[in-house]
Amino acid sequence: SDAQIQSQIDILNKDFRLLNSDSLPLGHAFWNYSNDAYIEFCLAHTDPSGNYTSGITRTATTVTIFDNTTSTPWTFIKRTGLGGKDVWDPSKYLNIWVCNITGTVLGFATPPGGAASEDGVVISYKYFGTGSGTIAPFNKGRTATHEIGHYLNLTHIWGDANCGNDFVADTKRAQDANAGCPSFPHKAGVCTFGDADGEMYMNYMDYVDDACMNMFTTGQRDRMRTSLGADRPGLINSTKCLFPTAINDVDISKAVGIYPNPSSGTFTIESPTYNLSNSNITISNALGATVQQIKNVNNFPYTLNISSLANGLYYLKISNGKYNLTQKIEIRK
Ligand code: ARG
Ligand code: ZN
Ligand code: CA
Repeated sequence: SDAQIQSQIDILNKDFRLLNSDSLPLGHAFWNYSNDAYIEFCLAHTDPSGNYTSGITRTATTVTIFDNTTSTPWTFIKRTGLGGKDVWDPSKYLNIWVCNITGTVLGFATPPGGAASEDGVVISYKYFGTGSGTIAPFNKGRTATHEIGHYLNLTHIWGDANCGNDFVADTKRAQDANAGCPSFPHKAGVCTFGDADGEMYMNYMDYVDDACMNMFTTGQRDRMRTSLGADRPGLINSTKCLFPTAINDVDISKAVGIYPNPSSGTFTIESPTYNLSNSNITISNALGATVQQIKNVNNFPYTLNISSLANGLYYLKISNGKYNLTQKIEIRK
């Protein structure tokens, strides 16, 4: 439901801003490591064509489960016509596909640098957001938090190796993935570079239950933010969360051609993008007085002949009630 989707967005905005109510209490050995990642999320409100969107699309499919077999590889989720839905420009949108994926897989993500056509994260519908459709112990929306961590260049906290390196200085070495809900301190001294506080199992990049993970570190924040700026800078400046500009306010000046300009009196007006039918074309002089008007112009490209007017600068206004455009033109004979 829309509500379930919104619950996930809300969780992301808490988890990536350290506003989650289950963050480590002051006094916990890792309290000082947990930090605000300064990253926020919103549903898109402008789609790739420039039209309004709720930020949610729904795709009917005959694929009952994307199980990563040869008949339904995961890539099919990201292909319109293969049971999925094509990516929206990943330099402007973080794409999140929610669907039925292989039972034991909660979600997966593309780290930076992959194919544009697959960029984004995939989350099982059973583990997306909170609410009645979701299944414990992964029903608090932390799968998306974890996957977006991967998408922003984080690896698992154990570095996918025995006491491996996750390339983040302030996360503790961990022997392996943790599961369930360990208690502090956990596996103290197991890894060579570990210490008495043990593993940071409550990190979003571990495998513990949703209710038991609650933090990114300052080092993870820096790594994610560096990646965002370097690998997907367009997301930072993306305006896709905003509503589309009201149609009358669209700047059509670049989409409407008036040429040649200057001309000896004959101008071609052309608009491949906008339907200008039913336009009134008004020519006014530099003082703003109307000197000529042609009503109800329907056929574009339109040839405007105002060669009876004297040399000089004029304003040409095109208006059909939907679009308004005023442009300076010059007659030079
Ligand atoms: N297993 C998945 C992965 O490796 C997601 C794990 C998410 N964990 C969670 N508690 N929701 O990417
Ligand atoms: Zn993972
Ligand atoms: Ca580390």
